[in-house]
Amino acid sequence: MTASSSEVVRSEVEARILVVDDEPEVASLVAEALREADPSWQVDAETDPIAALDRLTEGTFDCLVTDLVMPSLGGIDLAQKARAIHEHLALVAITGRASLESSIKAMRAGFSDFVQKPFDLETLHRTVSRCLHQVRQQAEVSKQIEQLTLGNATLEAAQAQLREKLDIASHDLVLSSKRMIRQIEDVAQVAAVARSIVGVVEVEDLLGLCAEIIGSRVACLSSTVGLHETQQNAGALMVRAHPAEDESPTLSWLPAPMPSGVLCRAAMTGKCVHIENIATSRLVHAQERQFWRDGRLLVVPIPCGKTTVAVAVVHRALDDNDFGMRDVKHVTALTPIMGPAIRTARLYYRQRCQVCSCLEAVAEAAENRDGYRKGHSGRVLAYAMLIAKTMELPPVQVGALQIAARLHDIGWVAIPEAAVNHPGALTRDQWAIVRRHADAGASFLEPLEFLGEVSQIIRGHHESYDGTGYPDRKAGEEIPPLARVIGVADALDAMTSPRPHRQALSLDEALEQIGRLSGEQFDPRAAEAILNVPADSLAEIQASGR
Ligand SMILES: [Fe+2]
Repeated sequence: MTASSSEVVRSEVEARILVVDDEPEVASLVAEALREADPSWQVDAETDPIAALDRLTEGTFDCLVTDLVMPSLGGIDLAQKARAIHEHLALVAITGRASLESSIKAMRAGFSDFVQKPFDLETLHRTVSRCLHQVRQQAEVSKQIEQLTLGNATLEAAQAQLREKLDIASHDLVLSSKRMIRQIEDVAQVAAVARSIVGVVEVEDLLGLCAEIIGSRVACLSSTVGLHETQQNAGALMVRAHPAEDESPTLSWLPAPMPSGVLCRAAMTGKCVHIENIATSRLVHAQERQFWRDGRLLVVPIPCGKTTVAVAVVHRALDDNDFGMRDVKHVTALTPIMGPAIRTARLYYRQRCQVCSCLEAVAEAAENRDGYRKGHSGRVLAYAMLIAKTMELPPVQVGALQIAARLHDIGWVAIPEAAVNHPGALTRDQWAIVRRHADAGASFLEPLEFLGEVSQIIRGHHESYDGTGYPDRKAGEEIPPLARVIGVADALDAMTSPRPHRQALSLDEALEQIGRLSGEQFDPRAAEAILNVPADSLAEIQASGR
């Protein structure tokens, strides 16, 4: 390959060239020719290829012009070693025996071009200039590729940073979504709670429902909701959900108002109280210890406006986890709904109590119409309570029994004076009139829906277990159970009280009669219960006059 004469090659400036030829004359001639061709070129000449390698190592060269055939080191080997030293070194071969084979070999070794001896100055100048130009272009391209690679690495690093930021943003978004879902679920649960308690007006039912709901949201042994009486500043009624087997019953009217203790503390301060250990806490009242003997307590006030109407108590064992903010939030999220509902139910309850008080006044007035029946209802109530205790009746039935005992003879208000205060034994017709008091009393209470059960008890309190009683001649289990209890209590007081036409029986005589008529006039279980009551207790009631 020879340089074309038609090509226009401009000189490269500031080039340093090493000429290597074992013939000193040729080396000098070529070097001189190149210096003349371009004065900006710095040209060195060397006859020993090994010494030429040392020069290449020591200095910076742009072009090697070398003979291919030399005795100590061939031009091709020299060129390969020189390229190892200078990556972008232009290689130009000088040969006197140009052949296709030597040309291919030289090109494979990295030579860019060659000049054939004998050569003219212009050809030499053009060939070296072109080779310099080519390798410098290659160097420039390599540099650009390097910069491109560096730019690519920067881009990849930027992409990695962006991906990391995207991952963080995605994570935040997921957390935010989960938080939002939890909030929506909380709102939905509160709405479900609101729907479930709407319309529940019985205080006991409502407190029990609230306790159930709280117990289902917070892990615990039991959950309790206690009514707080603001006027007395004391606890009154407690309803417990999920009680342990050995704990107190689900529904408890407190034996006495509880003016201090952890429940009142929460109610008065309006703040949650946490008891880490019931056994060692000084805040827990002795009466409260009957409900919670050991473990942990979380007490949360249930407000309505600025007043605490109830408190929620969550009970955990000492081995369980301590109560945390999450537990408090679960309960307090419900209290804004429960508070107004409890207040409404309590108002309804108070109204019913006032109605009952009015009815008791009517019943007492009816009782006082004759001189023989004064205090009767009070004593019947006391006997009935002893029977209920012996029979272990549930608290809800005891409540109904209390009202029914007080009002059982309210129908006497409808009985004519002639029959009420008849001297001596009643006539057949008068008995028929007197017997109407059971039916009249039931009818009197019938319009009051909340006293529906009490009305049926009053109607049945003169029925006989064997079906010979009045007004409906019901028998056995047909008669309301609490009516059978009042039947025994009523008969005991009637037998032990004097009447215009007879003397009072002694307590023993009356009890003997009840035992004898058990299963006939009297319910066997109620009769057995009164017979098992200590005689002192009965005598005390009989003597009290009430
Ligand atoms: Fe009666």
